[in-house]
Amino acid sequence: MPAPTTQSVNELRAATERRRTFAIISHPDAGKTTVTEKLLLYSGMIRTAGMVGRRKGGTLATSDWMGMEQERGISITASAMQFAYKHTVINVLDTPGHQDFCEDTYRTLTAADSAIMVIDAAKGVELQTRKLFEVCRLRKIPVLTLINKMDLHGRPPLELMAEVEAVLGIEASAVNWPVGSGREFVGVVDRSTSTLLHFTKAGVGGAARAELRRIPFDSPEIELLVSHELLEQARHDLELLEVAGNPFSRERFLLGEVTPVFFASALTNFGIENFFDAFVDLAPPPGARPADGADGAEICVDPITTPFSAYVFKLQANMNPRHRDSTAFLRVCSGRFTRDMIVKHHRLGTAVRLSRPHSLVAQERTTVDEAYPGDIVGVVNPGQFSIGDTISLTDGFHFKPLPQFQPEVFGRIYPRDVGKRKAFDKGLRQMAQEGTVQILRSLTETDSYIAAVGPLQFDVLQYRLKNEYGVETTLESLPFQCSAWLDGDPETFKLPYTSIVVKDRLNRAMVLFPNVLAKTYAQERNPDHILLSLG
Ligand code: G4P
Repeated sequence: MPAPTTQSVNELRAATERRRTFAIISHPDAGKTTVTEKLLLYSGMIRTAGMVGRRKGGTLATSDWMGMEQERGISITASAMQFAYKHTVINVLDTPGHQDFCEDTYRTLTAADSAIMVIDAAKGVELQTRKLFEVCRLRKIPVLTLINKMDLHGRPPLELMAEVEAVLGIEASAVNWPVGSGREFVGVVDRSTSTLLHFTKAGVGGAARAELRRIPFDSPEIELLVSHELLEQARHDLELLEVAGNPFSRERFLLGEVTPVFFASALTNFGIENFFDAFVDLAPPPGARPADGADGAEICVDPITTPFSAYVFKLQANMNPRHRDSTAFLRVCSGRFTRDMIVKHHRLGTAVRLSRPHSLVAQERTTVDEAYPGDIVGVVNPGQFSIGDTISLTDGFHFKPLPQFQPEVFGRIYPRDVGKRKAFDKGLRQMAQEGTVQILRSLTETDSYIAAVGPLQFDVLQYRLKNEYGVETTLESLPFQCSAWLDGDPETFKLPYTSIVVKDRLNRAMVLFPNVLAKTYAQERNPDHILLSLG
């Protein structure tokens, strides 16, 4: 391998520093699609908002892969989209926001360097946001908070800030503050400069950028634009924040200890462009990643000085029904990726060619000639890739295995026609490998179960077994609602009534509980055992 030149190192550094790879996390309907669409609008990828297909009409082209998605009008598969926003290259990872989600959603967050958490101003912190935030916390991913739908009647901003802190257990620090809400939402005050960003609607239904005027908050001109009452309320809140609010520190944000909070209305474009501008300034570019070195000690893989390395965070089989293809999605962690490069596959100990690499630029599937740290690249997977695999140009390390997340729905599944057993087993194995479902076995090996993070995964499993493997199945639900990996001797674990112990694919003991109360009770009764939510 030729030594890198100073020029190529500088290019790599510049390309890496320009990248922002992130996920948008939210509860369904909080506005994730609208925010993504506005990001495309403000980056010039689409001329007017409303062009990105939505779940109710067509779906986003990015998630057109599965017939079921179209039938249901939802986006099931998590993928990534790349485009330029001002001086940055954005890689936005799609974490589906529908009612049910899967391990894929969680695992996608391992490929993100930061997250935008969208909260509906009327609803506050909802269940799915809480679950996704928990993963960000576990992985110490910095999170920016966008309180959306300020053009509708919502809850008082101070109350929402307090809820973020109380429910999510993170300090919230307001970067800007809304003036008015609902029909009277006229703008936000940028706290660091004490400037009012005053918006006026342009176009119908938020199709065009809102007109913006920046006015010093103490300027008398403001009184002509905003009612005295609204100004008094904003001034009062801002004074309170100065005294009692959390200060913002970028270092603490990068450590996941504080979340900067912004208020906006994605639909009307009020406060959205300045949020994106703040996001690209605050969010970190791809940084060093922890990995296990050859001697087992933890090392850091530097994005610039380490030659190309990446790991597989998602597999997707049969994305195109016309060709039975399978794609492995790689997150580039270091160095420069080039088309058709030959790399080491650490788990298999072999060399592999990364052929037909592609990514989604805006909404088009395009061939990738070069990629940089932070980029997501799909490569053809004839079966050699598993989730968590490390590939790189140099030896001596592998990225830490990706965690498994505790399932919350459980069942048994059978082929209706016993003659289809072989195809059924093959399909189930493939789907378990992709992470659609987990397969669990009883301790005696006599029984086997399927488990998933959300119930939709079972529908996906049945649908795909039928469409891709020609096997109709019967699904029987099991009465468990939560689970945990058991750290300690299963023999001495005092099992609550109606709970069971099973084994996962790595033979680790897992307890299935009928409800959360039973789990809490079990932990109290077994102080010498630890119940773990990540496997
Ligand atoms: P999601 O991806 O998080 O599920 O949410 P999505 O963006 O699809 O938004 C859900 C609904 O909320 C949509 O309305 C969308 O137009 C609306 N919405 C998003 N942001 C705002 C906002 O800032 N203000 C207001 N007033 N509404 C907002 P819908 O009627 O369900 O869909 P559509 O017919 O508008 O597509």
